Amino acid sequence: MEKIRKQLIEELKQAKSSQDIENIRIKYLGRKGVITLLAKETDFSKLSPEEKKSFGSRLNDLKNFAAEQLALAAESAKSSDIPKKIRELDLTMPGGNHRLGALHPITTVQLELQQIFQGMGFMVLQGPDVESEFYNFEAVNIPGDHPARDMQDTFWLENGMLLKTHTSAAQVRTLERFGAPVRAIFPGRCFRYESIDPSHENTFYQCEGLLVDENISVANLIAVMKTLLSEVFRREAKIRLRPGFFPFVEPGFELDLNCLICNGKGCPTCGDGWIELIPCGLVHPRVLEFGKIDPNKYSGFAFGLGLTRLAMMKYGVRDIRLFNSGDVRFYEQFAASL
Ligand code: DAH
Repeated sequence: MEKIRKQLIEELKQAKSSQDIENIRIKYLGRKGVITLLAKETDFSKLSPEEKKSFGSRLNDLKNFAAEQLALAAESAKSSDIPKKIRELDLTMPGGNHRLGALHPITTVQLELQQIFQGMGFMVLQGPDVESEFYNFEAVNIPGDHPARDMQDTFWLENGMLLKTHTSAAQVRTLERFGAPVRAIFPGRCFRYESIDPSHENTFYQCEGLLVDENISVANLIAVMKTLLSEVFRREAKIRLRPGFFPFVEPGFELDLNCLICNGKGCPTCGDGWIELIPCGLVHPRVLEFGKIDPNKYSGFAFGLGLTRLAMMKYGVRDIRLFNSGDVRFYEQFAASL
């Protein structure tokens, strides 16, 4: 019995799989197993009562021992039945390098603008990309025969609608919907039928702003623009207004920013120290009328900020086409700006 016990232990040590263990179990405890036969083939009649007793109890011990050891071995063999590949997987290894996604740089600038304007009490709205001729042109004082239509080459759709050429298209929609007083910005995508080059795109982003209230003057416009630019560029912004013509404002201005690279001394980026940045003005009375607002009671200002241009300046991007390129190598560089 001692020999059987040792042999069993030895064989269990060598066993590698559940199948091996099962074979050992059959060999020792099966119907014709070594231990089973030992019990069956022993002629108890030849033994004295004491011998019977001691043999029987030792045999029982052996059986129990064998059953116990086999059960233990079977339990631990389960884990070695797991495929080698998984068994050798080292869960303590350092993880792989996961590439983080990033917001598109224009989205980042847009979110920043939204936060700044929301801080000044502006709503953030959105006009439709597919727009009617009325809202895109007529309602902002650009009638059919107006030369300004030629300045914005338009993608016309077969059903007479168009792709909005500027975010100003949502001005009268906003006035109709909210009345006065109102303050809102509407960032959005604009489309123009243009050939593209490093500084022209047929698809780009603007952020329109509109504030209408009683007694609004150019002073209010200047204050809001200065706050905006100081926050975007994180330092006091110096600006100037030049006369500019846009049919939907009177007077209209080109707002220039004192160049932040050369502090207005003049450099290759700005030329003469000023960067033309935001066209703006006081809302034309006709636009207010289209929005059912009384121009004798209310006045307002509007501006049309080139979001894409602002992103180019902020990040020093020299080719506008990169924004719509879908080139991950470009976008990846903005991962840190999240
Ligand atoms: N909509 C004009 C454009 O796309 C930009 C613009 C100019 C918007 C003056 C304004 C404004 O609100 O006051 O060229």
